[in-house]
Amino acid sequence: MVFIVFEGIDGSGKTTQVKLLEKYLSSKTKSILLTAEPQKKPIGILIREIIRSNSTPKEAIALLFAADRIDHIKNTIIPGMDKYDFILSDRYFYTSYVYQSLQGCDKTWLKEINKGIIEPDMIILIDAEIEDFLNRRGENKVIFENIEFQKKARQKYLELAKTKSNVVVIDGSRNVDEVHNSIVNAVNERFDI
Ligand code: TYD
Repeated sequence: MVFIVFEGIDGSGKTTQVKLLEKYLSSKTKSILLTAEPQKKPIGILIREIIRSNSTPKEAIALLFAADRIDHIKNTIIPGMDKYDFILSDRYFYTSYVYQSLQGCDKTWLKEINKGIIEPDMIILIDAEIEDFLNRRGENKVIFENIEFQKKARQKYLELAKTKSNVVVIDGSRNVDEVHNSIVNAVNERFDI
């Protein structure tokens, strides 16, 4: 079993790319579990509701993301390990590490509340400037504050990538097919497909 997680700032195309990788691996007769955080289960649903308001303390949100992750690991990832060749997750702990630390949570504490998580075999970081992603989506309604946040998140992700050997940084500024081909090459280099 190979466990791969996709990470990147909002709008980076993770969801598209994770599905394309699933399709590619299926064509190689591999069995795949495609999953995502926050989950579409009670804790994840609560998180989505809460993050729309500004009043919930950042630490409470970090704890909810960690709780959703424990449920994800225990009820989905671990049971899937015996059943599937590949588990692909759209976001994982590294989102918490980047986003919640930028929101002001202490990094050591974030690691502490997420301790015991399963280390992925590969972390695919889809990287580009936020402007590239916005241009591609034709977005014009994104608020400035969020753009500044995403810029900082990009830098945090890149810093994190330097400290971990299992991160593969993919240039996400190119078109969907080119990004997909790079991901396929990276996966083929690392694992027997
Ligand atoms: P999601 O619905 O997956 O949005 P997207 O499709 O844009 O990735 O995630 C919702 C938001 O939750 C997203 O902005 C990232 C944030 N998030 C955190 O802040 N911490 C976390 O640990 C996770 C998993 C997500």
